[in-house]
Amino acid sequence: MGVYQKLFAKFYDPFMHNFEHKLYKRRKSLLSNISGTILGVGEGTGVNFKFYNPEATVLAVEPSEYMLAKAKSKAKGKPNIQLLNYGINEAALNTKIAPKSIDAIVCTLVLCTIDDPEQAIQNFKKWLKPTGKLVILEHIHAKKNINKSIQNIVNPAWNIFADGCNLNRSTDELIKKAGFTPVWEEYFTKTLRFYTGEFKLG
Ligand SMILES: C[S@@+](CC[C@H](N)C(=O)[O-])C[C@H]1O[C@@H](n2cnc3c(N)ncnc32)[C@H](O)[C@@H]1O
Repeated sequence: MGVYQKLFAKFYDPFMHNFEHKLYKRRKSLLSNISGTILGVGEGTGVNFKFYNPEATVLAVEPSEYMLAKAKSKAKGKPNIQLLNYGINEAALNTKIAPKSIDAIVCTLVLCTIDDPEQAIQNFKKWLKPTGKLVILEHIHAKKNINKSIQNIVNPAWNIFADGCNLNRSTDELIKKAGFTPVWEEYFTKTLRFYTGEFKLG
């Protein structure tokens, strides 16, 4: 497991390089106007850090020490970013995050990976202020049955290669089922289907 985590962290940025060009504008417009206290879930190598408003306080949660080492270098010169070496469902995180204390929770390419996304979404509900928002940029299960089936077949191998990432999660549905309402939402690309948006509680 450690070996895969290490390799994933090492090759994540170069592997994503071309794809990140396509996501750049979306990340920027999603993240740069958020103010207050932000909880960044599974921040990985810290790709989001350059987009955050320097006046926002960012709690960047990341369980992989290898990812965290990369994130640390991207957080240099950004004193508003605090790195926390936890998984989002670890009970100890509750000593760092008080209920109803967070203005925005950011999930980018992470609900596909975390072990219990339902539990994570319940935690989000607990930590967000009543006026808080959930900001999402995620890949989800394809729409067409043929693409869905291919993703189901490929998923076990992909899951190992991509350190726990799943191609076949409908996390858009999970969010809404848990009681979040879209302020706006958008689906884009088809085979590797993406979902983005902002959600409020209730
Ligand atoms: C595909 S990467 C995405 C990184 C980053 N959010 C981005 O947009 O580039 C998924 C990240 O989720 C992290 N992760 C895995 N399990 C997690 C958990 N239980 N809680 C928080 N993060 C987790 C992984 O270590 C990895 O860094």
